[in-house]
Amino acid sequence: MPIQLKPRERRQQDTSGGSQAALTNAVGHAPAEQAVVLDGVSHAYTDRRGAPVHALADVSLRTARGSVLAVVGPSGCGKTTLLELICALQQPDAGILRCEPAVLMPQRDLLMPWLCALDNAALALRIAGLPRARARERGAALFDELGLGGFERARPHELSGGMRQRVAFVRTLLSGKPLLCLDEPFGALDAITRQEMQEWLTGALVREPRTVVLVTHDVEEAIVLADRVAVLAPRPGHVIAELSVDLPRPRTRTNPAVIALREQALRALNLGATEDGR
Ligand SMILES: Nc1ncnc2c1ncn2[C@@H]1O[C@H](COP(=O)(O)OP(=O)(O)O)[C@@H](O)[C@H]1O
Ligand SMILES: [Mg+2]
Repeated sequence: MPIQLKPRERRQQDTSGGSQAALTNAVGHAPAEQAVVLDGVSHAYTDRRGAPVHALADVSLRTARGSVLAVVGPSGCGKTTLLELICALQQPDAGILRCEPAVLMPQRDLLMPWLCALDNAALALRIAGLPRARARERGAALFDELGLGGFERARPHELSGGMRQRVAFVRTLLSGKPLLCLDEPFGALDAITRQEMQEWLTGALVREPRTVVLVTHDVEEAIVLADRVAVLAPRPGHVIAELSVDLPRPRTRTNPAVIALREQALRALNLGATEDGR
């Protein structure tokens, strides 16, 4: 699949209240080996009464091209906001964000119930103007490769939760973007399917290598899947620890090194909770 690499930089120009951030493609590219660079990025929403809700404060992160960065943290610590910033669906209020073109796989699979699995997966290609036959052809190749062969014509309601997530993942891959942002992709699955899907994703990334930012609230999942783990604490969301996971794949949850890293991440999260006053 042809991949267009076009790093972009977004930098807040006016922090005095304007929420309009500049979008500049030509300046300050991330170093060639970095897919994502965040420097002091902050983002606030406004609640219904007009009061600011500080979702992220002074977040700095880096992701090497071709690696998997997991972002873990409790609900409400700004994980989805972070992905939406990386995917340019929102703009930072402050700080610098430079990244390659990114696509979001949202928390819910959002498959169209009236389309078959293959047409759901190929939707982005159809919207981009590819004829149906060509779009299906591109999708079908990935269906075989990613273990969905034979389910091309099934409707979403005929698929298991794990299969629906795989269709959504194929749709994300077919966007052609080099950077995949996965928002709690296995959060709604039962424990057994979840583990199967983690193993599947490890294999899928070997066959279709991409840079991935994976958001999860499951610390173990983060360590089993990622090269690096950023631990976030809430109110406002900020990075309290970064762990490097230098272990061969596939990894098991019972691997003592995985357990040791999990303890480290959980300790950081507990400290973050204390710091937050909870
Ligand atoms: N559209 C919005 N308007 C106001 N507040 C929001 C909006 N979206 C998210 N928030 C708030 O921002 C914070 C971070 O949200 P989110 O990024 O969804 O966290 P997470 O994905 O970690 O659960 C939360 O306090 C949430 O309530
Ligand atoms: Mg979220």
